[in-house]
Amino acid sequence: MQRTDPPKSAPKKVLIKTWGCQMNVYDSTRMKDALEQDGYAPTTDMADADLVLLNTCHIREKAAEKVYSNLGQIRALKEERAGSDRPLTIGVTGCVAQAEGEEIITRERAVDLVVGPQTYHRLPDIVARARTDGPQVATDYDVDDKFEHMPRPTKRQVQARGVTAFLTVQEGCDKFCTFCVVPYTRGAEVSRPLTQIVDEARELVDAGVREITLLGQNVNAWHGVGPEGGEMRLGDLLHALAEIEGIARLRYVTSHPKDMDASLIDAHRDLNVLMPYLHLPVQAGSDTVLKRMNRSHTAAEYLDIIERIREARPDIAISGDMIVGFPGETEADFEATLEIVRRTNYAQCYSFKYSMRPGTPGAEMPDQVAEEVKSERLARLQALLNEQQVAFNQGCVGKTIDILLEKPGRRDGQLIGRSPWLQSVVVDASLGHIGDMVRVEITEAGANSLLAKAA
Ligand code: 5AD
Ligand code: SF4
Repeated sequence: MQRTDPPKSAPKKVLIKTWGCQMNVYDSTRMKDALEQDGYAPTTDMADADLVLLNTCHIREKAAEKVYSNLGQIRALKEERAGSDRPLTIGVTGCVAQAEGEEIITRERAVDLVVGPQTYHRLPDIVARARTDGPQVATDYDVDDKFEHMPRPTKRQVQARGVTAFLTVQEGCDKFCTFCVVPYTRGAEVSRPLTQIVDEARELVDAGVREITLLGQNVNAWHGVGPEGGEMRLGDLLHALAEIEGIARLRYVTSHPKDMDASLIDAHRDLNVLMPYLHLPVQAGSDTVLKRMNRSHTAAEYLDIIERIREARPDIAISGDMIVGFPGETEADFEATLEIVRRTNYAQCYSFKYSMRPGTPGAEMPDQVAEEVKSERLARLQALLNEQQVAFNQGCVGKTIDILLEKPGRRDGQLIGRSPWLQSVVVDASLGHIGDMVRVEITEAGANSLLAKAA
């Protein structure tokens, strides 16, 4: 088929590919909004893009490697377009950009810009400069508050994304777990101010958003100053957001056990709009491993928090993250991980093989665990976690719950809603419209979703 060139007045098009956590998803939407307001139209077709941004993750080696294999493919497209009136500009953003900076351009010459997460407010400007002046690298920790300087999404942009939204309230990490790159890629803990968050939440709700998930690498380390000058913690912020008229659901992710304070636990008891779901990674069950990981809590302290939160909110679903094969992990240490999983009883839990990250203390530790041992332990852990997840889903059958209808189902005549515990629930489309909260009875539990009928 012959392709015709777009008319001269056609807007430039941008495609953003996103890896990693929800913070990256949020950042990608903010970057897309800013570029759209700068004259770029979004596209999902790489061949049609004038600007391709890879918003990357550095958390594990595999995640970081994906960037280079993707860049190899995009380079071919760029070479095809060289000298045409639609040259392709390629950018790397996110955590690999922050960690590797200029090296990315040395390794992959096709890259025109490298922009770290603290510099996104300058993105449209950096893109323009890359197109005229050649490669740009921006990985400095700007003193400017990037969110204050990024354009707010328009009502139309919010509406295009649906009835749930992410809202970053905190970034960075001061905890320095010895396996983790985040303190190096996302910098020190910074909280966005209360008014900025409340204003953004209001705008989201005004545009039709019903559920907001507050994001932060250490979201429960959020702190701010209240209207009367007093210190506020995440529990207080949730109370403030719960007051917004029209908001139906609040969630937050990811929390650290150290910052799980009483006000947050109480908020789960006191706020109906706060969903009964807590993502609280523990990473390992052995105290010696936890110590070497610099987690600054013991297994018993973690279990105590789980007990307290279950007292406050008996129907709460607990989710977590686990790492197997951290340096020095013995079979007995691993057994302790299985034990804490049994005692916690997760509704859902992510599990990973330890991945050595250059620059972190873990990479320098003796007794790195062999790959086969890691694989074997991961398989045993995942079998147990899978059993727990299936049991949790099965336990929902027969319950009457409220679901928020979020999107059309795969089949005609179906809609997909979300349970309070984050499961996808498939229902008949006659039950309501997207954005409605409807009461249903769960009839069946599958591996990844539930079926329900009108209650
Ligand atoms: N290796 C394996 N898993 C890791 N995580 C973070 N760093 C590493 C690493 N070096 C996991 C942790 C964290 C989740 C986001 O990723 O479990 O909670
Ligand atoms: Fe990956 Fe961590 Fe960066 Fe999120 S913050 S994208 S998990 S490295």
